Amino acid sequence: MRKKIVAGNWKMNVNLQQTQQLLTDLIEEANTYPSDVKVIVAPSFTNLQTAVQQLENVNIEVAAQHMSEHEKGAYTGEVSADMLKSIGLNYVILGHSERRQYFGETNAKLAQKVSIALANKLTVIFCVGEELENRKNNTHFDIVTQQISEGLFHLSPVELDKIIIAYEPVWAIGTGETASPEQAQEMHAHIRNVIADRYTIGVADSVSILYGGSVKPSNADELFTKPDVDGGLIGGAALKADDFSAIVNARS
Ligand code: G3P
Repeated sequence: MRKKIVAGNWKMNVNLQQTQQLLTDLIEEANTYPSDVKVIVAPSFTNLQTAVQQLENVNIEVAAQHMSEHEKGAYTGEVSADMLKSIGLNYVILGHSERRQYFGETNAKLAQKVSIALANKLTVIFCVGEELENRKNNTHFDIVTQQISEGLFHLSPVELDKIIIAYEPVWAIGTGETASPEQAQEMHAHIRNVIADRYTIGVADSVSILYGGSVKPSNADELFTKPDVDGGLIGGAALKADDFSAIVNARS
């Protein structure tokens, strides 16, 4: 049975003091969260340990926003899966469009990262999504199929169980231009069909597929009630505890 998941990607937006305040606000809201929703927050590297410590007594998980494809070594500035595990993390976001766009993360590199993350017992939130150009020229399904197959299809069915997929159309990220519930459902169903073709319907049905891209308290209900939308990956709205809580409490 797929779990509903709401994850907040804080990106590079809050320093330590702001993180501590946001965590305090979230802790106050956490007792309103439905027990059947998995809630995850993803601070920047410098604030991950603080988040793990401050959230240890509430039902909110902590994720890193990315990690190295290398186990260890001369990779200045990088952070390894083992380092993330050593501070108590169980989740990592991989393949966010901003990592693909600004830091050259290719499907091939992401496939390596996924394998290293799983080998270190991290659950992966794997991001896919098309550019506006792809949607305009009707190649959006091809692009997402390629991201899924090249990034994930080296995995066994058992390994795929530790993958959460986040569909984030790039043209909806940070723009206020949310995909319509119908657009989200159409792509989520496509992703599930692509997985079913590679593995089985049973495997595909067990994968949580989140929508990301201008999710707000005002649109979360209509998005999350779509049959193949299993929650959201939230950016801007995750930086305000009350908005994030409203999204966590959205109907699904
Ligand atoms: O990873 C989630 C993020 O890309 C979505 O951002 O601000 O459109 O909710 P936002």
